[in-house]
Amino acid sequence: MNDRKTNIYIQGIGSYVPPKSVSNQDLSKKVDTSDEWIFSHTGIKNRHIASAEDSTSDLAVNAVNSLLEKCGLDKKAVGGIIVATATGDYPGFPSTACVIQDKLALDGIMAFDVAAGCTGFIYALNIAESLMAGSSLDNVLVIGAEKLSAVTDWSDRNTCVLFGDGAGVALLSRRDDDYSCFVDSVLHARGSGFDKLMIPSGGTKDKHGEARNLYMDGRAVYTFAVRVVKDVIIELLERNNLTLDQIDWIVPHQANMRIIQAAAKRLGIDESKFFMNIGQYANTSAASIPIALNEMIENNLLERGMTIITVGFGAGLTYGGNVIRW
Ligand code: UT7
Repeated sequence: MNDRKTNIYIQGIGSYVPPKSVSNQDLSKKVDTSDEWIFSHTGIKNRHIASAEDSTSDLAVNAVNSLLEKCGLDKKAVGGIIVATATGDYPGFPSTACVIQDKLALDGIMAFDVAAGCTGFIYALNIAESLMAGSSLDNVLVIGAEKLSAVTDWSDRNTCVLFGDGAGVALLSRRDDDYSCFVDSVLHARGSGFDKLMIPSGGTKDKHGEARNLYMDGRAVYTFAVRVVKDVIIELLERNNLTLDQIDWIVPHQANMRIIQAAAKRLGIDESKFFMNIGQYANTSAASIPIALNEMIENNLLERGMTIITVGFGAGLTYGGNVIRW
């Protein structure tokens, strides 16, 4: 294993999903779909959808407040906010991190967004750890938050059944000893596929009047995802002289149960090594991994000392993973 001595660890995880749950049956009353199709093609049963008043930053602030309460940390001890999101409150400035900072009344500290699609939380963890290693920052909030319902075309059955809203957050803190929970990370992108998954409006290439809805070439993203989930896991294992037997859990971006099953098959391992909760939340993009981690902790599935791999893929096309000694 890489023995990085950055003495940074994940002190705690928080998450929040809006109370409104929308089932496959509910959707089948609005578009030409069925519970059977959605579940058999994706593993999704439900998704949580935010109210019209709540924006991505509101979801994130709820997740942060639950985390700070759990960790018993005074918010004034937080030195930075990094937000992975594709559905920020505003298309350009200000960053969603700055809006969250305002809502938390934390003026003065570092705050910025990471635009790496569904891989955003994996990128942001590595960025935060590296920043903390090279500075005197002691506590940084790494947030993955999305209100995908706001960029979903609710008349398009190809996409509207796939996504949900939610937020998750990790508190990265410095320890007194030399224990580092971050073993290794790999971050990649394949920009040649940028147009396979995008929100084509709201930017400087925007044509006035276009709807701000997500576009996805589902087949292309599916094929890409299966390949890179396998490749990232193998890359992380090889770089760190690890075998799959030494990994307690693989925590993948929750996009589609079939992607995870296909990747498990290619790796020659049982899919039970992968934590999956897509059934309840659907694809919450950058929020899916911290929401999964929080659920694992709440169900006593994740204990200190375990070695896990996070792996993700998404718009960009980005992909990557982290090895974490919990
Ligand atoms: O966070 C990362 C982002 N995204 C992903 O990871 C998604 C990657 N892609 C996928 O997960 C899959 O490609 C999908 C779940 C999006 C689609 O599954 P598929 O097995 O690739 O289906 P398909 O797109 O090839 O469509 C098969 C059929 C089509 O009908 P025809 O043309 O064969 O008559 C679709 O119109 O299924 C139809 N279809 C639906 N039918 C009922 C597509 N969506 C639905 C639906 N209900 N919701």
